[in-house]
Amino acid sequence: MTKISHSAEWQALAADAEALEKTSMRALFSNDAGRFDRFSIEAAGLFLDYSKNKITDEVVGHLIALADATGLEDMRRRIFAGEHINVTEDRAVLHAALRDFSMRAYHLDGENISLLVRRELEKIKNFTVRIVSGADKGFSGKALDTVVNIGIGGSDLGPHMAVEALRPYWIDGRRTFFVSNVDGQQLVDTLEQIDPSRTLFVIASKTFTTQETMTNAKSARDWFLAQGGSEGDVAKHFVALSTNETAVEAFGIDKDNMFQFWDWVGGRYSLWSAIGLSISLAVGFDNFEKLLRGAHEMDEHFRSAPLRQNLPVMMALTGIWNRNFMGAAAHAILPYDQHLSHLPAYLQQADMESNGKGTTADGQPVAWATGPVIFGEPGTNGQHAFYQLLHQGTDLVSADFIAPAISQSALGDHHEKLLANFLAQTEALMRGKAIDEARADLAAEGKAPPDIDLLAPHKVFPGDRPSNSILMEKLTPEMLGALVAAYEHKIFCQGVIWGVNSFDQWGVELGKALASSILPALGPEGEEQPKSTGHDASTNGLLDRINNVRHQNG
Ligand code: F6P
Repeated sequence: MTKISHSAEWQALAADAEALEKTSMRALFSNDAGRFDRFSIEAAGLFLDYSKNKITDEVVGHLIALADATGLEDMRRRIFAGEHINVTEDRAVLHAALRDFSMRAYHLDGENISLLVRRELEKIKNFTVRIVSGADKGFSGKALDTVVNIGIGGSDLGPHMAVEALRPYWIDGRRTFFVSNVDGQQLVDTLEQIDPSRTLFVIASKTFTTQETMTNAKSARDWFLAQGGSEGDVAKHFVALSTNETAVEAFGIDKDNMFQFWDWVGGRYSLWSAIGLSISLAVGFDNFEKLLRGAHEMDEHFRSAPLRQNLPVMMALTGIWNRNFMGAAAHAILPYDQHLSHLPAYLQQADMESNGKGTTADGQPVAWATGPVIFGEPGTNGQHAFYQLLHQGTDLVSADFIAPAISQSALGDHHEKLLANFLAQTEALMRGKAIDEARADLAAEGKAPPDIDLLAPHKVFPGDRPSNSILMEKLTPEMLGALVAAYEHKIFCQGVIWGVNSFDQWGVELGKALASSILPALGPEGEEQPKSTGHDASTNGLLDRINNVRHQNG
């Protein structure tokens, strides 16, 4: 396979980047009245403005040509056709089938998986109704109004993000907690706040072997038994979400209390599956279904729209431009909606676990930059923390600004102020401020010439900092679904262009294996341990130091 960075399309983009070096985005805007209209797309209720990237029609043409050269349209056909595009795990990637409400049937290796999906959705629906209505009760006859979701990675971040995002849709009186970390403090802090007789523990793990989740689940069950629940009550208070029936049963959860999903649903793409049970229990099944329907609408757009009019594709291509041709090593997710506070963490896994790879799907080292560092915070908090670097730092950081035009909780002029900040930031990043403008501002403030000389260099903003703006009317379940699906497709498209397999995660294995080998060397507190020899000097030294402290103070 020809290296994509040697292709004519890649070289054309490199030449575009060089040719644009001396042109500012400001100039691109002032010379082109149609820029906003041409570089924006509306789909599934989302509006994407990508005009504040340093692109021209020529650049967009070359980006589309690059997508064509890497076979993006064919890969799009193959993912929806259920081909085993996750080559290193020999799996299909069909999370879109989980939310397909059309009459389309998905067949995978001879099986109609749409029937499985419908059966499981029906089970989620019935269970949600029974729990929310109080028909299913806990061991003391009280309704189960509290959910503790125990899971990590995709079995935590997706439902956690969505439950937080849909706060205005929470069913009155219901409480949802998420426990992910193997640090027992998180579980202890949670257990302190709940009544065992009213709590449903949702053990979410695709594999049902993940150390953190299994440890937390076992401790939660021990606590439940110590708090008055009996072995016989466990069935009422514990359910499992998994693909691994054997492991679920071995843990002691009856398979009737198990909600299933399948190996063609990647962990970080699983919130639409049984992993979404905690969302359904928090906001009701109807709202969970609306979330799925919103995602489906975006899927329909993504699979049918031409690349140039395709919202996730253009998110992906502007990302490729910024990463590979403008040199942005990081990408900020900046939601101007407090309820999207968990979106950056969710997208960290979705993007970085998918595209943080240095080997192509066919096993060659990549010779180009792949996934950027993803980080973010809701606006306006981020403005008072790291935006300084976005505006004046030495590294280029691209950004997605996300905002609803209408707030779910109108209060005075809060939302107008929030939106004004969102718009101002994207404009400031794009425009920047030249030295003569900085000097003129200082003169207008009445500063003396020596002070102007001193301060002006610090008040210069280079500008040309790229951003996308993603608008929606309101953060509804449908809009959240469409937004998340857009990001999933964006990540897929970028993976195709970079030639990596976006659906495996071998990079998490080495640390996991080493942790298992280190664990036996850490004895209980108070117990003396032999000197460590099995690792490098740093790891041995740290291990001995920890063991000594634990021995002396235990
Ligand atoms: O971090 C690795 C990973 O495998 C993720 O991909 C996954 O979401 C997470 O662990 C949790 O896995 P599981 O759902 O099997 O417990």
